[in-house]
Amino acid sequence: MEQRIFMTGTGGMVGSYVSACAWHAPIMQTDVREFDITDTAQVERFFAQYAKEISWIVHLAAETDVDRCEQDKDHAMRVNVLGTQNMVYAAQRYDIPLLFVSTVGIFGGDGQLGPFHEFSTPCPANFYAWTKWYGEEIVRQHLTKYVILRAGWMMGGGAKDKKFVMKIIRQLLDGKREIFAIEEIIGSPTYAKALVRTMSEMLQTSYWGTYNCTGNGKMSRYDFARVICKEIDPSVRVTPVVSSFFNLPAPRAASEHSENRMLTLRGLNTMPSSEDSVRAYIEEIRLAGILDPLRAHAAVRL
Ligand SMILES: NC(=O)c1ccc[n+]([C@@H]2O[C@H](COP(=O)([O-])OP(=O)(O)OC[C@H]3O[C@@H](n4cnc5c(N)ncnc54)[C@H](OP(=O)(O)O)[C@@H]3O)[C@@H](O)[C@H]2O)c1
Repeated sequence: MEQRIFMTGTGGMVGSYVSACAWHAPIMQTDVREFDITDTAQVERFFAQYAKEISWIVHLAAETDVDRCEQDKDHAMRVNVLGTQNMVYAAQRYDIPLLFVSTVGIFGGDGQLGPFHEFSTPCPANFYAWTKWYGEEIVRQHLTKYVILRAGWMMGGGAKDKKFVMKIIRQLLDGKREIFAIEEIIGSPTYAKALVRTMSEMLQTSYWGTYNCTGNGKMSRYDFARVICKEIDPSVRVTPVVSSFFNLPAPRAASEHSENRMLTLRGLNTMPSSEDSVRAYIEEIRLAGILDPLRAHAAVRL
């Protein structure tokens, strides 16, 4: 029987690169509409029927809206903890290796600035990060054949992007000529496309364990916004602000600056630098035509 790689949550930013990547086996992609990780009975029925055909579980599905997680903790627990537990129990019961994508947001809530490596002391700053940490702990407690990849500030997906890059681009598309970005928060922006490549490489190893897998290096939100605007329209002004400028429900860690120490030790750190990642992603967005309306704005200004 041909073995397949089963994936959850492929309708999101990371999932959008899955089809274009080379995998060692055929992939079975699912999103919440076909496979809801919180529906325990559905998960159990599915694995009872198909477990023999599955060589890996790649668990991407999550509630990634940090502010929503802060405001609706039951929902965050249901998706990120119960949902992960359902996938872990299936992996354990049928002895299927599992790859779980987590976040380096589990660090920095105590004001430490990093860079954080795999064995730095976790201290989540918000409830989303706590739920991802609980998910990691469930994986480690129940499985031996697992890989946890911790990503940083995610970039990817183009039209599906709900995060920082697309928030800036939306402001530019709305005609904003000044962008405000926080200076005192640092992280390691991560290109989802490169993360997916590392995922496919890890599936061909038996290097079980927890790995940071972010863009190499650090940027503040302000640096991040400056690179985005420089690539798209250097005449846009980027103004540094303090965190209190934005009134967000969830606290943010002062630093999510990560170091891919274990991938580097294994010779598997092929992640690009954060800055190169931003440039590559903006180029992808440009090629997708998402920036086309800006040309019309520029023509009007001339
Ligand atoms: N985005 C980030 O900044 C970031 C940073 C570090 C790590 N990560 C991790 O990377 C992984 C992939 O996230 P992403 O960046 O691709 O985020 P995303 O775009 O929000 O994708 C997550 C996907 O999971 C789906 N999902 C939500 N609830 C589900 C459920 N009950 N059952 C099945 N699927 C469900 C979502 O569907 P709907 O959109 O329809 O809800 C969405 O398609 C996640 O584990 C996330 O925690 C993300």
